[in-house]
Amino acid sequence: MESFWDYAYRTGEHSQHWESAHPSAELVALVAAELVTPGAGALDVGCGTGRDTIFLAQCGFRAIGVDSSIEALRIARGRSEAAALAVDWRLGDARDLPLEDGSVDLVNDRGCFHTIEPEDRTAFASELDRVLAPGGLVLLRGAARDCEEEGLFAVDAQEVDRYFVDDRFERGPLVPFYLTAPSGDLEGRLVLLRKHGRG
Ligand SMILES: C[S@@+](CC[C@H](N)C(=O)[O-])C[C@H]1O[C@@H](n2cnc3c(N)ncnc32)[C@H](O)[C@@H]1O
Repeated sequence: MESFWDYAYRTGEHSQHWESAHPSAELVALVAAELVTPGAGALDVGCGTGRDTIFLAQCGFRAIGVDSSIEALRIARGRSEAAALAVDWRLGDARDLPLEDGSVDLVNDRGCFHTIEPEDRTAFASELDRVLAPGGLVLLRGAARDCEEEGLFAVDAQEVDRYFVDDRFERGPLVPFYLTAPSGDLEGRLVLLRKHGRG
């Protein structure tokens, strides 16, 4: 049976509900602030149609886009090919990432963790920890609170601290934020996490 995500991407519903027409401003700002250096490995987890992933490739990162939806990756691949940009697209599960240990310096998450059910959040966070190099960053944003009817789970301080534990990650403040989409904006939270351990 077709997944919710494949259906949304195949029918174009994604473009109403979560896709942004441009790379996300907060990712653009993070790159402009030189918090990560071009050339580094950058994973866009739950990359969807790859707007942010392609931006990372454009800026000179070794960009990797992972998504569980083959339909999303079909659109994403078409876009990177049209722009003649090299992106490593991988069909995979964020709870069991198809990536080597310590292979990326940045994880971009715009709206993936907030779709991960509570019982799967430990696996999600430990996979990000595994694939990040010491000192690596996670730019995480998602819904401010649980939205049961939309199948979204909160990205708040309690949830972030529960899964991205402080002996593995240093976290910044949870910043009020909106995830914008044509069908309406979703009140969210943005947080930057840094994995401990750079020498
Ligand atoms: C709300 S969309 C956001 C997509 C994209 N980041 C954006 O900003 O347009 C969530 C994405 O996460 C993907 N996703 C959901 N669960 C996943 C999982 N367990 N592993 C990999 N991708 C997943 C979905 O296919 C979808 O593309």
